[in-house]
Amino acid sequence: MEIKRICCIGAGYVGGPTMAVIAQKCPHIKVTVVDLNEKRIAAWNDVNTDNIPVYEPGLSDVVAAARGRNLFFSTEVDKAIAEADMIFISVNTPTKTYGVGKGMAADLKYIELCARQIARVAKTDKIVVEKSTLPVRTASAIKDILDHTGNGVQFQILSNPEFLAEGTAVQDLFAPDRVLIGGDTTPEGQKAIQALVDIYANWVPKDRILTTNVWSSELSKLTANAFLAQRVSSINAMSELCEKTGADVNEVARAIGMDSRIGPKFLKSSVGFGGSCFQKDILNLVYIAKSYGLNEVADYWEQVIIMNDHQKRRFAKNIISTLYNTVSGKKITFLGWAFKKDTNDTRESAAIYVADDLLSEQAHLSVYDPKVTEEQILADLNYLDTRSETENTKGIIVENNPYAACEGAHAIAVLTEWDEFKEYDWQKIYDSMLKPAFVFDGRNLLDKKALEKIGFVYQSIGS
Ligand code: UDX
Ligand code: UDX
Ligand code: ADP
Repeated sequence: MEIKRICCIGAGYVGGPTMAVIAQKCPHIKVTVVDLNEKRIAAWNDVNTDNIPVYEPGLSDVVAAARGRNLFFSTEVDKAIAEADMIFISVNTPTKTYGVGKGMAADLKYIELCARQIARVAKTDKIVVEKSTLPVRTASAIKDILDHTGNGVQFQILSNPEFLAEGTAVQDLFAPDRVLIGGDTTPEGQKAIQALVDIYANWVPKDRILTTNVWSSELSKLTANAFLAQRVSSINAMSELCEKTGADVNEVARAIGMDSRIGPKFLKSSVGFGGSCFQKDILNLVYIAKSYGLNEVADYWEQVIIMNDHQKRRFAKNIISTLYNTVSGKKITFLGWAFKKDTNDTRESAAIYVADDLLSEQAHLSVYDPKVTEEQILADLNYLDTRSETENTKGIIVENNPYAACEGAHAIAVLTEWDEFKEYDWQKIYDSMLKPAFVFDGRNLLDKKALEKIGFVYQSIGS
């Protein structure tokens, strides 16, 4: 079966970059990305591709190359579904904020809406691909809905989890470690798998395309994210012990990373992991384990989240205690708000929680991030609902110049590892601050020796 038309529902951080790369690599396939959000689609269609809504290094070039040729962004969801042979579902699956499983389970209402929309509109056979990270067995729920359309259309459901990391999305999509495709073991299921394999084979070496059954594929995605997050929580747990004992967490990480069984990557101690996936996927894993009565399994993974919350909280606490137990009325500058460098995404960013704690202590925050807007920063704080929107607006100033952001501050906190922070004129920043001038480096990014030589009191994580 040869795929000629693809539709992707959801033009977010996953759907946008993934489809742009498929379109660029497969000029013979027409790819239409649809979303209900008109503003978002308009931004994807902006004449200037620097204004697309997702910031990722290299992405605007990929979009510029394919858009209008075989890549289209549209709000006409029904039309795109009707004409597609293959439909990717890349809508958001946030943690539930209400009802059963509140704060733990993934909210599948957007997925279900998509399935129902596909069921209503489809007049020809379709392959439906789960791209969003989903709880295990979601495919069977989608199948239930699709199989009851009554109009005789055949659906095959595939699971094709996306492993790209934000900030390196284009690179990850161009040269993935692996592509994972799960499908039914029936002959029709195998044919559907092959159709998707053929698409990726346009640029991914065959030995990197793995095929499994649907459940293995769904569970592998949750497992991969749980293992990655666990590494960060493990090194962060050691960072606190390092601070007490005089060991240096960077040295420890280097030493253990040279053991080829452990490996050197993903061992950077930090103010805590963020992003849309790790916490959500682990909570989801915990929820699934509990729902099968596997309490020890659930507790084991939940500890990764508990450790991460602790790491964020203790960073804020340390700022307060170091600044003589009060930050009330003091200007504290945040360098960075995004959950990691090279993205404008702020979902679950540690910065939000650290800011929230400091605002509760009546600090005056000044924030600079090269890619995050003031509107987003305020929306992130307001979403927590700790205090009124007016109070948040009063407590925080967002600057678009880092030097202005640091002027007159008691302390600087580095929350994101943006490269440009290393290149600043730190003497100039020091001269403009109150003394003693403190730097709390939540990313172990800056040059400790150089800053101390200037006169800063410098504290990093884990040493
Ligand atoms: C993650 C997975 O890496 C990706 O495979 C999956 O598809 C989606 O979730 P992402 O959340 O985009 O990707 O970024 P990632 O690089 O994994 O970083 C997640 C968080 O962990 C960030 O806040 C990052 O700063 C933090 N982190 C990562 C550390 O604190 N230390 C590390 O060593 C690595
Ligand atoms: C371990 C460390 O590997 C070694 O670096 C250290 O110096 C001493 O402790 P050892 O206990 O001899 O070495 O063997 P190891 O290969 O680490 O296995 C330990 C246990 O884990 C064994 O019972 C092994 O069967 C089990 N294991 C190991 C697993 O169950 N699964 C694995 O994937 C690996
Ligand atoms: P992710 O990181 O998983 O890509 P995002 O929130 O960035 O998540 O993107 C998901 C997108 O899916 C949003 O732009 C949202 O408007 C869109 N979306 C959600 N439900 C639907 C739907 N039923 N039809 C079309 N688009 C949808």
